[in-house]
Amino acid sequence: MVTVTPSGAALGARVSDLDLNRLDDAMFAAVEAALHRHGVIALSDQHIDEDVLVAFSRRFGKLEINVTSAFQHPKHPELLILSNRTRDGKAVGLADAGQGWHADNSYNRLPGRASILYALEVPVRDGQVLGDTLFADMRVAYKALPDDVKQRIEGRLAVHDFAKFYDDMIKNKGSKRPPLTDTQRAARPPVQHPLVMRHPYTGDTCLYADPGYTTRILGLPEAESDQLLEFLFAHETRDAFIYRHKWRLHDILIWDNCSTIHMATGGYRPDEPRHMMRTQVQVDAARMQ
Ligand code: SIN
Repeated sequence: MVTVTPSGAALGARVSDLDLNRLDDAMFAAVEAALHRHGVIALSDQHIDEDVLVAFSRRFGKLEINVTSAFQHPKHPELLILSNRTRDGKAVGLADAGQGWHADNSYNRLPGRASILYALEVPVRDGQVLGDTLFADMRVAYKALPDDVKQRIEGRLAVHDFAKFYDDMIKNKGSKRPPLTDTQRAARPPVQHPLVMRHPYTGDTCLYADPGYTTRILGLPEAESDQLLEFLFAHETRDAFIYRHKWRLHDILIWDNCSTIHMATGGYRPDEPRHMMRTQVQVDAARMQ
């Protein structure tokens, strides 16, 4: 019997008494229900290989293949390596993924449903695990908006642009990733999504705007759009809406990209290895009406 222990914060829970090597339909249903309820869940102490991770991820839906990254797993292009390890002087993974608030794949026409991140090595200093990941609950953030702001954003579309986050990492955060090529930019044109999203699986009302990718609210003058986005970004990342995930070795973390935004905090050195594998699941097209 799967055990679900809520974090005590606005969102988040830990799931134990589960082995993904022996997952049946009832266990998967319990995991999916916990994800829908808590927004982000950590499956404790998992010892699985890449095949099991990909097969488990596929139970949530179609997997994204990250075309802009050089760090796909050689056997499974759907698996991306997030790592600060090097081999023969070369990076083996993306070392600075997600270091700013964002919702994965909001820049796609079919946005991200969930992301799944498996911790194979976590950085430890003086007995403390470093590299926490923060999550903010967009259902709670929406509910807490002033009524006049709810009215201003209802029915509006916002633009999400992959290049915003990527360029910002290079320009403002010292990332060593190579600049996007024209072909990569053309492959990821900006897309539009409702600012107030009815969650495609649960029907919950969520604020759907993230500092990483959202660039513009359509139908408003630019200055007003900038001002409103600035307000929404500050509002949705208030402490009261946040869960801080402190990693344990062999955690598998699953988060809902429609009802949460997240940010990797970094803060570990190159000689403190962090090595993880990630998959990203798309929302089912039939649910995006
Ligand atoms: C991500 O945003 O997918 C990465 C999160 C992390 O590495 O903590």
